[in-house]
Amino acid sequence: MKTYKIALLPGDGIGRDVTEAAKAVLEKAAARNGFSLVTTSYPWSCDYYLENGSMMPGNGIETLRSFDAILLGAVGWPRKVPDSVSLHGLLLPIRKAFVQYANIRPHRLLPGVQGPLRSENFDILCIRENTEGEYSGAGGRVHQGTDSEVAVETSIFTRKGVERILRFGFEQARARGGKLASVTKSNAQRYSMVFWDETTERLSAEYPDVEVTSYHIDAMAARMVMAPESLDVVVASNLFGDILTDLGAAIQGGLGFAASANINPDRSAPSMFEPVHGSAPDIAHLGIANPIAAIWSGAMMLEHLGETVAAGKVMAAIEATTARGIGASPGRDKTDAITASVLSALD
Ligand code: NAD
Ligand code: IPM
Ligand code: MN
Repeated sequence: MKTYKIALLPGDGIGRDVTEAAKAVLEKAAARNGFSLVTTSYPWSCDYYLENGSMMPGNGIETLRSFDAILLGAVGWPRKVPDSVSLHGLLLPIRKAFVQYANIRPHRLLPGVQGPLRSENFDILCIRENTEGEYSGAGGRVHQGTDSEVAVETSIFTRKGVERILRFGFEQARARGGKLASVTKSNAQRYSMVFWDETTERLSAEYPDVEVTSYHIDAMAARMVMAPESLDVVVASNLFGDILTDLGAAIQGGLGFAASANINPDRSAPSMFEPVHGSAPDIAHLGIANPIAAIWSGAMMLEHLGETVAAGKVMAAIEATTARGIGASPGRDKTDAITASVLSALD
């Protein structure tokens, strides 16, 4: 029987609840479809940091490298560990080290879910650059605590990085509705964002079958609310993609529905699958986190592993659940009840 090695990183807060739910669903889907998942769970988190002084051990990245894929819950517990420490100690280094340069985030309404918009007829695939840009980590602070204090944080856009994410966007658009929206702020940011726009324009010659339009980020934010049905594939830089995909989550009914995949398209290292949402300290330990975003991310993992049939069955089980109203309204159903419904819909 085909076996996949999965590293499980539940992380903090509701990350633990939703990964447990996703694991149960994925294991059942595997058993029903003739393959198995062997999961190894690591306790790397803010609690781990308080005990050990780091978010993961020194060989953490090398430990993860031997897996076929990584399933992550959420990282961050700002009351105990500053977010800038916890995220730069676990989540962000994994995305960079494993060259997971394409962060894919689908936004559409599941059946039975009431979104906040008049338009319910949208199906957007956000592609977020995931290794550089505004998240390059280049910068520093000098003269801290004095009147002369200076803080610098530099965005880095490389030809290699911009070309590969745009090509990924063009390919996705080609495989879907044939429309690509490229998002920048090149009216104000005249170096990096003009470079991105020029690269979009240059590559478009190689994809004559894709209709590409460049938008400014501010106009795109409005468009996602006013005319989301006009969008197909949306490609954006790291920070812009981050913000747009919480907006995407909102128009699909909430953060409990937004899935994501951090993909290494060359398959030179494992890819990582995680919901868009964070550790939600406000609802942690209440048993009311919606696990659908994490389960959907798990379906994306099965798809990436080549288990397309099982991935489709997990999606169908999610849709059958929300179509019955279970998990469809934020905060109404318990995590366990939603998970139980998805599990039984797999039968
Ligand atoms: P958040 O996504 O954790 O929460 C925002 C709001 O959405 C909260 O009101 C929360 O209750 C709600 N929410 C989120 N997921 C939900 C779910 N599955 N079901 C129901 N409601 C849900 O964002 P935040 O509050 O800005 O961040 C909290 C912590 O998580 C911070 O430490 C932050 O840095 C971290 N974070 C981590 C990730 C990640 O690991 N990928 C992503 C975002 C934020
Ligand atoms: C996300 C999160 C992370 C990001 C944070 C926690 C660093 O918001 O995955 O969307 O900005 O990438
Ligand atoms: Mn985010």
